[in-house]
Amino acid sequence: MQIGIDQLAFYTPKTYLDLVDLAHARGEEPDKYKIGIGQSEQAVIPVTQDAVTLAANAAVRVVTDANRDKIAMVLFGTESGIDNSKSAAIYLKRLLKLPDAIRAVEIKQACYGATAGVQFAHDFVRLHPDQQVLVIGADIARYGLNTPGEVTQGGGAVAMTISANPQLFNLDDETAFRSEDIMDFWRPLYRTEALVDGRFSENVYIDFFKAVWRDYQAQSKRSIGDFTAFAFHLPFTKMGLKALRAILPEASESQQKELMANFEASRQYNRQVGNLYTGSLYLSLRSLFDNAALKPGQRLGLFSYGSGAEGEFFSGTVSDEFDATESQKWFSTYFKSRQRLDMTQYERLFTQQLPNHDVLLDLSDDDARFVLTGIQHDQRQYLDRN
Ligand code: HMG
Repeated sequence: MQIGIDQLAFYTPKTYLDLVDLAHARGEEPDKYKIGIGQSEQAVIPVTQDAVTLAANAAVRVVTDANRDKIAMVLFGTESGIDNSKSAAIYLKRLLKLPDAIRAVEIKQACYGATAGVQFAHDFVRLHPDQQVLVIGADIARYGLNTPGEVTQGGGAVAMTISANPQLFNLDDETAFRSEDIMDFWRPLYRTEALVDGRFSENVYIDFFKAVWRDYQAQSKRSIGDFTAFAFHLPFTKMGLKALRAILPEASESQQKELMANFEASRQYNRQVGNLYTGSLYLSLRSLFDNAALKPGQRLGLFSYGSGAEGEFFSGTVSDEFDATESQKWFSTYFKSRQRLDMTQYERLFTQQLPNHDVLLDLSDDDARFVLTGIQHDQRQYLDRN
């Protein structure tokens, strides 16, 4: 029995910042951002969207009347939680009208949380092949105005259903992981913006990638020649390129060309959206499926990394039934309908934060189906506009 990702959908708001505008405002060369960092645009998340609404707007496309009753568990990966106690998965479960006989929990380990969800779901479906698990990766990446990390901000959500005989991606059983207590990036409870040791975090990412790639090869007896493409956690797309380059010499010359071309396909969407922490690897996987000419049976390698730090290299094969048409259409419509912000609008949206008292938010700039309408009695209020 094959187990893996049956459906994979993405959501982020339409407001975005062109990074050439950011470069001019910050006195940097645009090529530093476009080539040196590998980002062109970044999603800007209004105050009327949080991890819950981002997730709901993505998940509504993978939870339908056809599978609602099969979903036994919601695993919500996020590092942008809205409560220190109650999980974002409980709010999501209600917004999606999922049945009550369900487990719904939040998983936190920086950008790695959704991968923990995928792997736990894989093992669960092995035991319960008639059931499905909804796995979420939803975040808002914030470093602060005028910081080196600003160009790597972004946000959004991916929603995946993990099932037996999946339509998209069959997961292999072999997987290699590693965790170590490292201070490369963190966000204390009292802060809304992350703290980061930028260069150090890049080095740790590469060290973890090399270590789990080596362990994976020893375990699976596979080598680079067995792979058609790799998808990486992309905090900024140059990071994935650096990781790929670290192992590229292991491939033949013709395979190097194929891997590089497929890497370009895998970073297309992320380049325009920015970092979305937990969802980033899976947006890249979606980008690969939608923009490369993949064929059923081809093997893809995935590297997940969460600062702090935890890394995992795992793999899978393209499903026989794989069809990217609907997703390609969704992204094409989405990118055409985006609203470019100028620097003043971006800085205003960025600094608008939820107060810690009752408030009614202005929804006029947010056309999403699920929105945060405000706070009442210290409780976030959500609206499904359908
Ligand atoms: P910086 O110091 O502004 O940039 O910060 P830089 O001076 O290092 O330049 C960046 C690159 O642009 C360099 O290339 C330059 O040579 C190049 P590299 O040496 O890296 O190959 N460059 C140019 N290229 C072309 N034309 C030009 C030009 N000028 C310069 N004119 C940094 C960069 C990434 C450190 C910063 O943005 C940052 O701190 N970002 C946030 C941290 C981050 O994303 N770390 C990644 C690994 S950790 C991770 O992935 C986990 C994370 O997602 C969080 C989680 O797990 O929850 C972050």
